[in-house]
Amino acid sequence: MKEDQLILAIESSCDETSVAIVKNGEELLANIVASQVKSHMRFGGVVPEVASRHHVEQITQILTMALEKAGLDSVEKVDAIAVTQGPGLVGPLLVGITAAKTLAFLYDKPLIGVNHLAGHIFASRLVYPLEYPLLSLIVSGGHTELVWMEHDNDFRVLGETLDDAVGEAYDKVGRLIDLPYPAGKHLDQLAHEGDAKFYDIPRALLEEDSLDFSFSGMKSAVMNTVHNLHQRGQSVNSVDLAASFQAAVIEVLLTKVDRAMSMNPAAKQFVLAGGVAANSGLRSALECLFREKYPQTKLLIPPLSLCGDNAAMIAAAAYPLYLAGDFSRLDLNARPDMDFRDEID
Ligand code: KG4
Ligand code: ZN
Repeated sequence: MKEDQLILAIESSCDETSVAIVKNGEELLANIVASQVKSHMRFGGVVPEVASRHHVEQITQILTMALEKAGLDSVEKVDAIAVTQGPGLVGPLLVGITAAKTLAFLYDKPLIGVNHLAGHIFASRLVYPLEYPLLSLIVSGGHTELVWMEHDNDFRVLGETLDDAVGEAYDKVGRLIDLPYPAGKHLDQLAHEGDAKFYDIPRALLEEDSLDFSFSGMKSAVMNTVHNLHQRGQSVNSVDLAASFQAAVIEVLLTKVDRAMSMNPAAKQFVLAGGVAANSGLRSALECLFREKYPQTKLLIPPLSLCGDNAAMIAAAAYPLYLAGDFSRLDLNARPDMDFRDEID
């Protein structure tokens, strides 16, 4: 094996088209991300068919830009092609998968299908080496999971959401108070200016030892509050509502993380992952929890540029699979509902 291994990765599971080139699973040479947010904003959410069309239009340009940024004159120079296999929207996933298969076939390179959620965890690998066992909290638009890892390709789900994902709850609440899609970032900003005790939002903590989550009750409480105020002809105090909602979400997430850590004190690292890892309130609450209660566990929080969907995290997650020779066949198909259990089968 030559010294440096280059992986070219493609991510297209939702509304970001991204191509990255990563050296040895840790050094970012290029990570081009084209967001379609503006196209979906007017619909208040991602329209799968529109997203697929955008991916088709963008993918070759983004590939060219990534190669240029990495200083490579051809795909011939990379050692493997990685691609998000799932979970995600089937049409958008298929665009990335078709592009990856074409490149793998054309340049005779190994193809590596990657779980998008593993990618979110491995985003931190681009900043710091992962040490096992580790505990990870994935908080994204479609998922909320606590995952235990004992080595690179080993994922055990300790708890997950029974209904809405955190990001989804943020987007739905944001829509109620007329914030643009995706609302998470805007709601996070508003939350800092408001009174977190102004509105009473219930915290669903479930049974005492449960590591599962539930956010639909919080979302419904916000909806009821807004509708009741409107019925009485009163206006909503958006800033205080954002603060109250964010405080409730963070309290639930922190309680579960605390619970999971006390049940798994051997964790060498705690990795925050997913789009909602960009949440400033969550980042600082976790920093405080780990500084005060779990100083022996290293807290890894990816930089903002690697929290949202990007192909660099897919390349980082593909690297251990590459080293293990765990390659996909050219008939690799999209798995829109892929989860960590699929990999264990
Ligand atoms: O991981 P991601 O980019 O896409 C999925 O795989 O789902 O996550 C997107 C989600 C959206 O729901 C978005 O509103 C949310 O992450 N998000 C945030 C913040 N930035 C993005 N939620 C709360 N606070 C933020 N600062
Ligand atoms: Zn994601």
